[in-house]
Amino acid sequence: MLSYQHAYHAGNLADLHKHALLASMLAYMVQKPKPLSYMETHAGRALYDLSDPAAIRTGEAEAGINRALREGWLPPDHPLAAALAATRAQHGDAAYPGSPLIARHFLRPDDRMDLAELHPAEAEALAAVMVGAQVHRQDGLVMANALCPPVPRRGLLLVDPSYEVKSDYRAIPAFIRKIARKWNVGTIALWYPLLSDARHMAMADEVAGMGALRHEVRFPALRPGHNMVGSGMIVVNPPFGLEDEAARLTAILAAI
Ligand SMILES: C[S@@+](CC[C@H](N)C(=O)[O-])C[C@H]1O[C@@H](n2cnc3c(N)ncnc32)[C@H](O)[C@@H]1O
Repeated sequence: MLSYQHAYHAGNLADLHKHALLASMLAYMVQKPKPLSYMETHAGRALYDLSDPAAIRTGEAEAGINRALREGWLPPDHPLAAALAATRAQHGDAAYPGSPLIARHFLRPDDRMDLAELHPAEAEALAAVMVGAQVHRQDGLVMANALCPPVPRRGLLLVDPSYEVKSDYRAIPAFIRKIARKWNVGTIALWYPLLSDARHMAMADEVAGMGALRHEVRFPALRPGHNMVGSGMIVVNPPFGLEDEAARLTAILAAI
């Protein structure tokens, strides 16, 4: 039974890191007038309300996107700022876009979007927001295995597990290796938490060893004793310019 709900964490520092990199990759990839396939193994509900008691209680958005906006961490022309502004123009000032809605901001009518979400309520909310995308109420790794290599062949797969099932840490490297072999031109982005007990380390080392860009940022634990002390993203076949955005985020988050 899945219990993780991203509404408690939407807009936190990990989202900011992941979503800034994702938006930067997509903004670059859509510059070429060739269609793309965009896929997510763990999509979430796509649209979050930061005035919801769940978000306010944890204070994570306050320490993440709210602080980022107050302190100018995202320049006005940053791709994530553009996706956020478009979401707020449509859904109100407390709205925050999850990764599917960020992707939708950049994708064009000929691009394809396949989103997997296993939690029934999250999948229902996702389908309501992402009209026109293919929403798969199934295990995301099974979906990606079935779709890859996708048509169009250019594209990006975001793998963003909740790591509720501890076997995820063991399963992910073999999954990424298999997808990268079947789809050697695909950009594959894996998000993972940096944990004080280092449980993520073997997985991250193995995936990064596939010749990928690895970017990690550390930040203060969300609450005393909280195991998550940072955010990591590993990208196989990173688009041009991603290293610059990663360096920019390193500088900002090192100073908090
Ligand atoms: C970290 S959240 C996704 C957040 C989203 N990618 C974003 O950045 O806005 C992980 C999601 O994966 C879902 N999930 C967990 N196990 C899954 C599985 N095996 N296949 C598909 N979805 C799963 C959870 O219900 C949760 O909504």
